[in-house]
Amino acid sequence: MKEKIEALRLETETAMAQTETGRGLYELKVKFQTALKGIMSGMKDLVKEDRPAFGKIVNEFKQSIEEKFEARALVVREMEMQKKYASERVDITMPGKSYKAGALHPITLVKNELIDIFSGMGFKVFEGPEIETDYYNFTALNTPKDHPARDMQDTFYLAENLLLRTQTSAGQIRVMEKDTPPIKILSPGRVFRSDDDATHSPMFHQMEGLVVDKGITLCDLQGMLAEFARKMFTSSTKVRLRPSYFPFTEPSVEVDLSCSECGGKGCRLCKGTGWIEVLGAGMVNRHVLENCGVDPDVYTGFAFGMGIERIAMLKYGINNIKTLFENDTRFLEQFED
Ligand code: PHE
Repeated sequence: MKEKIEALRLETETAMAQTETGRGLYELKVKFQTALKGIMSGMKDLVKEDRPAFGKIVNEFKQSIEEKFEARALVVREMEMQKKYASERVDITMPGKSYKAGALHPITLVKNELIDIFSGMGFKVFEGPEIETDYYNFTALNTPKDHPARDMQDTFYLAENLLLRTQTSAGQIRVMEKDTPPIKILSPGRVFRSDDDATHSPMFHQMEGLVVDKGITLCDLQGMLAEFARKMFTSSTKVRLRPSYFPFTEPSVEVDLSCSECGGKGCRLCKGTGWIEVLGAGMVNRHVLENCGVDPDVYTGFAFGMGIERIAMLKYGINNIKTLFENDTRFLEQFED
């Protein structure tokens, strides 16, 4: 009996020392318990007097082996954790994948800035459709069919009376038709012309402004543009109005700003003149007011329209309009806030 116990102790302890997993240890324990049961079943062959002493030996043996199992379980658990940590190890010195955050396009930045400036002066935003009728884009703006001024805007026609709007001025008509003065709106949007060179693109953006009320004069336009120029460029930027022609304004003006590059002395940007042309404007032609049901003997108004790309090019010193549409991120990321 004693030999059997010693043999089982040796066998179990040797196997235990070599077991490195919780599962292996569990299986070994089951094997040990089965063997122990076998030994205990031999008790019935002993003489009665020897049984208590033998029982004591078996119990002590069982207890000591179980303690060893417990101790080994702790060691094995630690070994398993270490293995798991090693397999899940992350090399934090490896270069990571970096994701670039997007930013607003310079056209959007300038558009938002314009909206900020003019809404500070009480203008509300109105957005008209990009596909317009011939009537809103031309006829109602005092430019009937066969009017020579249609030549100024090379147009993409979609159908006889349907076109891609060539100017946000079409929105003036839509607003005046539905609202009664006082009117003070700002209309940003995409416009289209069959034009293509370093400073012109078949698609570009305009910002239209329209004010209609009693007693509006050209001086109001000039004062408002002076405020806009100071806010958009520098506090010393000056405004100059030159006579011009648009069918929908009378009188019409071309608006120049003093050159932001040379401050008016004359440089390459302003072609030596000290001034840069930025927008067209004028007093709303009385025929346009009449076309929209606004009484020109009671109300007067002014309108202006500027190219957003042009403002962006002047503000950021961009010399080719195409760079604004190529979406080369090396170019665009220079404008991130
Ligand atoms: N719509 C004109 C253009 O595109 C600009 C303009 C707007 C002129 C409003 C006068 C008044 O050239």
